[in-house]
Amino acid sequence: MSIRELIQKRRTIRRFRQEKIESEILSEIIDSARLAPSASNLQPLEFVLVDDPPVVEQIFPFTKWAGYLPNDSGRPPKGSEPVTYVVVLINRDIAFNGGEHDVGAAVENMILTALYHNIGSCWIASVNRKNVRALLKIPSIYEIDCILALGYPDENPVIEPISNSVKYYKDDEGVLHVPKRKLDDIMHRNQF
Ligand SMILES: Cc1cc2nc3c(=O)[nH]c(=O)nc-3n(C[C@H](O)[C@H](O)[C@H](O)COP(=O)(O)O)c2cc1C
Repeated sequence: MSIRELIQKRRTIRRFRQEKIESEILSEIIDSARLAPSASNLQPLEFVLVDDPPVVEQIFPFTKWAGYLPNDSGRPPKGSEPVTYVVVLINRDIAFNGGEHDVGAAVENMILTALYHNIGSCWIASVNRKNVRALLKIPSIYEIDCILALGYPDENPVIEPISNSVKYYKDDEGVLHVPKRKLDDIMHRNQF
């Protein structure tokens, strides 16, 4: 798949098949984060890979899903949960502040590398950080920025041109529709 195809194909996934992801692929995903751009090349990011099923199970309640969908219906139902998580940390000994741009670059690298291996993902910022910190014994010098949930996709969301709302929704068949702004509406050439 070309980079263009990967970018077009990428959608946030919230339904996963219960299939283990190979350890080498997980290492490759984290390595793609390591290789991302970093402000002043400080490289303050570190990652906790969680793929041990009992720990994976304990992380799930500390995550929130698809806030626009009613009655928590965007939350993966039993049997469709992620099989792996990557917890993204900022080492505050290395970067006293900032680091969020580094996170953006690193997470997108991980998302695209995962997708190259047909693995879907959900970038999750709605995290109960206190509970995740305690569970994974993360020292206080590390800020928990976000979590990337991973697994082989069990849904096929689609994009559509935005009409009057940014809110994604599900149709009668349960397909998630994600409105995206049009290129002409966001691109300004040479002057605004
Ligand atoms: C910084 C960031 C935080 C996000 N946090 C969550 C989250 O906590 N829970 C969730 O279900 N989706 C979360 N998402 C996924 C967005 O809802 C999703 O990217 C958006 O609806 C567009 O869909 P798409 O990724 O398929 O283009 C987050 C995305 C980003 C970039």
